[in-house]
Amino acid sequence: MAGPWTLGLLCGLLAAALAEATLSSPAVLSLGPEVIKEQLTQKLEDHNATTILQQLPLLSAVQHRSNRKIPLLRNLVNTVMKSIIWLKVTSASILQMQIQSLPYHQEMMVKIPLNMVAGLNTPLVRTIVEFHMESEAQALVRVERSNSTSRRLVLSECFCSSSNLRIRLLHRLSFVVNALAEKIRNLLVPALPELVQTELCPVIKAAFDDMYTSLLQLMTVPIPLNPGGLVFDPMFLIIEEDTVRFYLEARVLNSKGQVTTWFQSSEMTLTVPKLGNTSSSFVIRQDLVNAVIATLLPSENFVILLDYAHPDVARKLKLSLQKISKQVADRLDNTQIVKMVTRNVPYLHLIPGSSTVAQQIVMDIFATDKKPHPLFTLGIETKSEVQFYNEGDRVMINFKDISSDRIRLMNSDIGVFNTNLLKDAITMILTAELLPNQNSKLRAGICMPIVKALGCETASWSSAQEILILTPDSDF
Ligand SMILES: *[C@@H]1O[C@H](CO)[C@@H](O)[C@H](O)[C@H]1NC(C)=O
Ligand SMILES: *[C@@H]1O[C@H](CO)[C@@H](O)[C@H](O)[C@H]1NC(C)=O
Ligand SMILES: *[C@@H]1O[C@H](CO)[C@@H](O)[C@H](O)[C@H]1NC(C)=O
Repeated sequence: MAGPWTLGLLCGLLAAALAEATLSSPAVLSLGPEVIKEQLTQKLEDHNATTILQQLPLLSAVQHRSNRKIPLLRNLVNTVMKSIIWLKVTSASILQMQIQSLPYHQEMMVKIPLNMVAGLNTPLVRTIVEFHMESEAQALVRVERSNSTSRRLVLSECFCSSSNLRIRLLHRLSFVVNALAEKIRNLLVPALPELVQTELCPVIKAAFDDMYTSLLQLMTVPIPLNPGGLVFDPMFLIIEEDTVRFYLEARVLNSKGQVTTWFQSSEMTLTVPKLGNTSSSFVIRQDLVNAVIATLLPSENFVILLDYAHPDVARKLKLSLQKISKQVADRLDNTQIVKMVTRNVPYLHLIPGSSTVAQQIVMDIFATDKKPHPLFTLGIETKSEVQFYNEGDRVMINFKDISSDRIRLMNSDIGVFNTNLLKDAITMILTAELLPNQNSKLRAGICMPIVKALGCETASWSSAQEILILTPDSDF
């Protein structure tokens, strides 16, 4: 029967699980098994894991084993041992590792198959006696709670089970040598898993910790924005079947490095799509994307000498005004000025396929540069398509086309008129001035080192319902 202590523990665990289910973060990095396998394989290579296998001290391990035999047998075995000149691994390779999800919460198993050939040199036979040895290192990966808020991914246990051990002679030998080889094989069967555990497991652990540290570095490296910056920090992480998900918080900084917006866990949920057939993904919530856009495109004033800068647009404005009043149109001279201010920062609405950005603009039209008051003032709601694409590890954002959806007359020196008559001229002004200006500020793109954490060189951005998703280009 479960005692009160067990019940308390269960309730605690349940509460923690529920808290996580409702926790939400502005960004989530999901790494599937293929990425973890590839990155761990790379780190094992960096840590010279195969060299470690090639240097396994087989002879001393076998000798050590033979000393443990009961005295009667020891003499026999000693005779065998004396006839060995050397016994060592002559070739070793690490085969394709496997990641297996475990039924327990927050755990998964990494299986690393090992393939080796050991050579035995003895005066009893001219050629080297060779053994083919297959084994498997297994490591348990889990989420460790270091304190109430901080979690880390750890490789908690590493062992070499004898169940996947196979040692066999590569060649047929004479009867006498065969008997010797068989004795050595019998000593290798218990010795090899022990050796793998003591020699290779520390290297696997070091490689894993190295991989985890590199991942954290890629996630937390500050991303420069112009102006300001963006910093991600892991909030918590979970293992979900064979996928590791890092939930990140984000800070948007201004040019002085001060935090302007801090996105922590919030009520706003972030729906992380299943990985499906992609190996990894990075998902950013719409409100964070908008905070970044607000940093890149702060509210701004434009003063345009329309006839000098864009004579064709000035002509169009005059023609449109003529439809309202010939006298008013005639008051425009070639020093006419358009003043524009972006009222609020642009607001991106992310949807699958084509996302849009909405902006509010206040526009004053001055007939000449001498007039202190505008002819009229318009409030304009615009809409553009937003395009996301990638260049290397940069996300590029571009506003395409601009339409003036609603035009309100806010102030007028020339009486009330139908603002729709100016729609085409206004769209031309916005297309000539606002769009190129904003696109030039977006042109540098945003460097995302996290692309490398996805296990790829290049990745593609796409928008889904209220999220921006980065997925690797080359899929497994
Ligand atoms: C792996 O081997 C290379 C060359 O022998 C050496 O420079 C490097 O330090 C080794 N790496 C580790 C982690 O021991
Ligand atoms: C939790 O641990 C991390 C590092 O292990 C430390 O930076 C952080 O301050 C700790 N938080 C609390 C609440 O103790
Ligand atoms: C999986 O990939 C194929 C092509 O590689 C694509 O056609 C399909 O839509 C993808 N499925 C999902 C669920 O993403």
